[in-house]
Amino acid sequence: MDMVDKKIEAYCIAKSNLPSADCDRIEEYTKANVHGFGMLIGKMEASFIGFLLRSIQAKRVLELGTYTGYSALTMAENLPDDGEIITIDINQTTVKLAKDFWSQASHGHKIKSLIGSGLDIIPTLKAPFDFVFIDADKRNYIAYLKLTVPLLSDRGIIVIDNVLWSGRVVPGSESSGSELHDRNTDFIRSVNNYIASEPTLYGTLLPIRDGMFLIKKI
Ligand SMILES: C[S@@+](CC[C@H](N)C(=O)[O-])C[C@H]1O[C@@H](n2cnc3c(N)ncnc32)[C@H](O)[C@@H]1O
Repeated sequence: MDMVDKKIEAYCIAKSNLPSADCDRIEEYTKANVHGFGMLIGKMEASFIGFLLRSIQAKRVLELGTYTGYSALTMAENLPDDGEIITIDINQTTVKLAKDFWSQASHGHKIKSLIGSGLDIIPTLKAPFDFVFIDADKRNYIAYLKLTVPLLSDRGIIVIDNVLWSGRVVPGSESSGSELHDRNTDFIRSVNNYIASEPTLYGTLLPIRDGMFLIKKI
């Protein structure tokens, strides 16, 4: 389901600051050659995340879900020269592609890749992080959130991706039909409900692309 008219989205993209040609190369290669290319965050979301990173003057970023390295590189482009991104993924094959692309990109040196399960790696990381991007296995979204909130700096923000799950989380919406219902719908509803009911978190759920939850500690 498209949340926004395609032509309107194209207009917004045309008027926004966007990821560089280095990122375009990853996007194009992934679309042509890699299974699951719909998982890429895309230009609009990348531009918005870039805006957030610049607004809070982020220096350290943690990403869950590297895939082919597109989102990590788009974020790296919006960090200062001494900025750092730690990105975690369990899939060595896609991470190898990511590393090849980063090694040829102007901002690739800011990215450090860790291979393994997010649940195992997060507890080994040194705080603080100014920005956490959660875009990995949906079943662990609540666990990732609970593990990363204590790692946030004072200006820190967490963004969780795909929280509308093509509209399936909303009963009665265009895409909420039972044929589209899957276990991820339940996982995502649970994390959305958790954020909405948690008094220590300030959350804003935006209908950008597949839904982005912006979260801050209160
Ligand atoms: C939606 S994709 C990430 C897309 C990427 N952020 C982008 O836009 O370029 C999700 C990734 O999460 C990874 N993943 C799945 N389970 C994981 C786990 N338990 N720990 C870490 N990463 C995991 C998958 O291998 C996949 O590459």
